[in-house]
Amino acid sequence: MPLIIGSYKLKSRFLLAPMAGITDRLYRDLCRSFGAGLATSEMISSDLSLLNTRKTQSRLLHKSEAQPRCVQILGTEPKVMAEAARFNESIGADIIDINMGCPAKKVCRKAAGSALMQDPELVRKILTEVVNAVNIPVTVKIRTGTSATQRNALSIAKIAEDCGISALAVHGRTRKQAYKGFAEFESIRRIKQQSNIPVIANGDISNTHDAKFVLNYTRADGLMLGRITLGQPWIFQELINGLANKKEKQVLSNKDIKCIIIEHIKNIHTFNPGNKPLDQSRIARKYIDWYLYRLIGQETSLLNKYRQEVFSITEAKQQLQTLENILDEIFI
Ligand SMILES: Cc1cc2nc3c(=O)[nH]c(=O)nc-3n(C[C@H](O)[C@H](O)[C@H](O)COP(=O)(O)O)c2cc1C
Repeated sequence: MPLIIGSYKLKSRFLLAPMAGITDRLYRDLCRSFGAGLATSEMISSDLSLLNTRKTQSRLLHKSEAQPRCVQILGTEPKVMAEAARFNESIGADIIDINMGCPAKKVCRKAAGSALMQDPELVRKILTEVVNAVNIPVTVKIRTGTSATQRNALSIAKIAEDCGISALAVHGRTRKQAYKGFAEFESIRRIKQQSNIPVIANGDISNTHDAKFVLNYTRADGLMLGRITLGQPWIFQELINGLANKKEKQVLSNKDIKCIIIEHIKNIHTFNPGNKPLDQSRIARKYIDWYLYRLIGQETSLLNKYRQEVFSITEAKQQLQTLENILDEIFI
């Protein structure tokens, strides 16, 4: 069954999770190229007075991005969030996603992100205002609740459906858990049983086995992948093949992998909007680190040696050349 959000029929049921500092335009494009059906932006503050900050500018949409373009907004004030949704619609968003899942203290101190779940009335006001403010679908990303004794995702899901939300993504952890322990899927299963809108399961889905299990157990309409994509964005293709019972591994040759990595890093150096050249090689480092980790993570001393070689360089061209040499060594 295809996953449909509003009028958008997504090309696959695997979605890229929004990850601040990671899912920038280039990363979203990359994951889409391997079959991600939707790639949500990093969260953008709904405070429009922050529009001119470099961080917000670099996170804003580009009209040239592949559709559907989903922008995640974060905030606490219903009218302010409605205004932010309208603004993002005006610059090309096709779907607005509301962040009610982020556990970060910086975010929760302002009672935004997952902290909103402890105030269902405020959730209702925000969702009503935002849905009424735009002519595009609005989705929400939540957790299972605020703590083990307050797993209220089911009632929040009901509110979301009442308010006209088009799809709901659920990370199978509470806010208190942050990223500790394991995601649980019982809450997601219950939400799906009682919802009439698409439900997307998220949390610790790492391979075809997990994907099959979560889809079967929860009956979710889609799966959202976050950290597992780091250093291996091609995992979308592997899971799509795995679900279709095609060969999962060896989709890509070493030569293909090298090309993908080099192209991605080259693109970071060239295209990152609003950043100085020095920042660009710094931004590239974290992606390089994940690629190296996936390729040789078991060999700690070799990994550390390569990390040192790459991280000591700030000049982009030299960084790229060093990475190319390292990949040649790895793929000998
Ligand atoms: C570095 C990082 C940044 C994240 N930023 C966001 C964000 O901006 N908005 C959001 O809703 N969730 C955010 N998340 C949570 C992820 O979207 C996802 O729910 C979580 O990582 C669990 O999925 P996973 O086990 O597949 O990684 C972030 C997670 C990480 C690791």
